[in-house]
Amino acid sequence: MGYRQNRGYRQIRGTHRLRRLGAAVVLAVAAAANPAQAQQEPIRPLAAMARLDPAEIMLGRALFHDALLSRDGSVSCATCHPLDRGGSDNVAVSAGIGGAKGSVNTPTVFNAAYNIAQFWDGRSITLEQQVDGPLQNPVEMGSSWPETIARLRRSDHAPRFRAIYGADPSPELVRRALAVFERSLVATGSRFDRWLGGEAAALTADEKKGYALFKSYGCASCHQGANVGGNLFQKLGFFGNWFKDRGGPVTNADLGRFNVTGREADRHVFKVPSLRLAVLTPPYFHDGSVASLDEAIRIMGRYQLGRDIPDADIALIVKFLGTLPPDTLPGGS
Ligand code: HEC
Ligand code: HEC
Repeated sequence: MGYRQNRGYRQIRGTHRLRRLGAAVVLAVAAAANPAQAQQEPIRPLAAMARLDPAEIMLGRALFHDALLSRDGSVSCATCHPLDRGGSDNVAVSAGIGGAKGSVNTPTVFNAAYNIAQFWDGRSITLEQQVDGPLQNPVEMGSSWPETIARLRRSDHAPRFRAIYGADPSPELVRRALAVFERSLVATGSRFDRWLGGEAAALTADEKKGYALFKSYGCASCHQGANVGGNLFQKLGFFGNWFKDRGGPVTNADLGRFNVTGREADRHVFKVPSLRLAVLTPPYFHDGSVASLDEAIRIMGRYQLGRDIPDADIALIVKFLGTLPPDTLPGGS
């Protein structure tokens, strides 16, 4: 799995090389082209995933909302990932079956298809693989594949599986339908993406200033690409020991990617979270310990960049982040 991380670094280096190579050409034609496009931006517009079967999306959507997947029928994927609240439940750690508390904050499921890997520590590569996590986690849905499949075969979903796949529900088909549904949850059409596409009036002057600050402070060296994050693993606390300053015991979950690779260099390394829906999904950080976006940005300045970001700049960056979710999120019936 280590190569994934390296691939991220190579991507950055590759982008820089491309940028240099492309610069001369781009400058030559820039006069005629749109200025926003002429300058290569670190953030790209989100594009919907192609070739998704609507029938599979519908089935995946139904499974996502069905508590039958959990051991005692009390918890669905949507319990912790409510789609009408940005795909995350806005508490520090979610409660699974029997009210059991998890150890990390619930990330959004929107745009997850654009992550290089799933989970804070990236331990699942694909969305299909990811499903086994919550389904079997004793503090989430607490079920097992044999139990869940037995219930699904007796349920109203069974005929839909047979109609779409010509087969009874199986772990492989449940993973597949859920993953297809999640791939349909790409939140396209934000004001920021319209601005990237050349619609100059899509952003206010303050929002543009916020984006300029986001780039000049160096946020975009980690939060970048179509998902404004999700494509690199990085350490929390380059400048100073955030865990010490946070206080409390260092938990297993705080070790981050170290739990996956066992490498010392991966201690406190996390998948850089996407900021696409950050304004909708407080609280923040893998432990849900940071209540507001302002505070998250202040901490980022201090521990990731070694800078104290003035409040006025933080407010402008928050305004920029407000342009990243579209007016309407996908996933409705
Ligand atoms: C009890 C709450 C809970 C339930 C139920 C739950 N999740 Fe999650 N989900 C989480 C938490 C917490 C994480 C982060 C775990 C980690 O990183 O270790 C997560 C992570 C994810 C991720 C990875 C997102 C990312 O950016 O890394 C996806 C995708 C996801 N869940 C989909 C699902 C699906 C599909 C289901 C139903 C089969 C489901 N979840 C059920 C709490 C929940
Ligand atoms: C060196 C890489 C790096 C830089 C630079 C960086 N970040 Fe982060 N950012 C991260 C990582 C890693 C996390 C996850 C930390 C955690 O969860 O414990 C994170 C988390 C966040 C979060 C919380 C997101 C969530 O859903 O919990 C926000 C908001 C954020 N960063 C904004 C910014 C801003 C704004 C800047 C620039 C001032 C910035 N970051 C600079 C790596 C970076």
